[in-house]
Amino acid sequence: MSRVYVLLGPPGAGKGTQAAIIAEKCGIPHISSGNIFRENLQNNTNLGKQARLYMDKGELVPDGVTIGMVEDRLSQPDCREGALLDGYPRTPTQAQALNEFLKKNGNKINAVPFINVPSNELIERLSGRWTCKAEGHVYHLKYKLPKQANICDLDGSVLYQREDDKRETVEQRIKVYVEQTAPLIAFYKKDGLLFEVDGSLPIEQVTDKLMKIVNC
Ligand code: AP5
Repeated sequence: MSRVYVLLGPPGAGKGTQAAIIAEKCGIPHISSGNIFRENLQNNTNLGKQARLYMDKGELVPDGVTIGMVEDRLSQPDCREGALLDGYPRTPTQAQALNEFLKKNGNKINAVPFINVPSNELIERLSGRWTCKAEGHVYHLKYKLPKQANICDLDGSVLYQREDDKRETVEQRIKVYVEQTAPLIAFYKKDGLLFEVDGSLPIEQVTDKLMKIVNC
């Protein structure tokens, strides 16, 4: 693995939107822990059943389950050239585990772009979000409409509203982010890896700023 990027930001900041674009431009896989959990939910696997207990409440899935799952994914052959992580790590324990995993494999994180958006905007974004069933591509009722109503432009699958995008669950997810994930901002700043980007700009402008950080 050569280029490793961690996309940090609150729920609804645009991590998934930007990760899909940047990973394609850089030719590295987009690894979203949330998408892996949702695939498992859809396929009704044991991992999916376990994850549902936490995701529906807006809580984090325990580190013991999440760390192994992401390390398995990072060990796949398509990650040899690098990876763009979205939604992982999310706790100091996960961040430490990621550093150790990369070090063991002779690697390290290149940069941590942090997409920052005020909380009131996050709620509006998540309540208007529609997601595609097949691969998790995201749309928005106001900011990013699909060409055909309720159908994904990229793979033709049906769009749905995520269970955890209900207002009460979104509020809980933001609270969990502040308490458990925001400490990672200082963690990565200390190592000189953190680059903050204003995520309230239009999607294309956020992409331009991120591309300058990842430099590929
Ligand atoms: P996950 O799927 O990772 O959700 P999240 O971090 O809460 O992030 P979101 O997917 O909600 O938002 P996003 O930042 O990707 O925004 P998006 O691009 O969609 O995690 C879900 C759950 O899984 C967690 O709650 C937890 O239970 C579990 N989980 C996952 N990872 C875990 C981990 N590591 N440890 C433990 N548990 C874990 O954009 C949002 C909307 O805004 C879209 O509609 C989009 O079109 C729109 N938009 C995007 N950018 C802009 C812009 N610039 N202007 C206007 N609109 C925009």
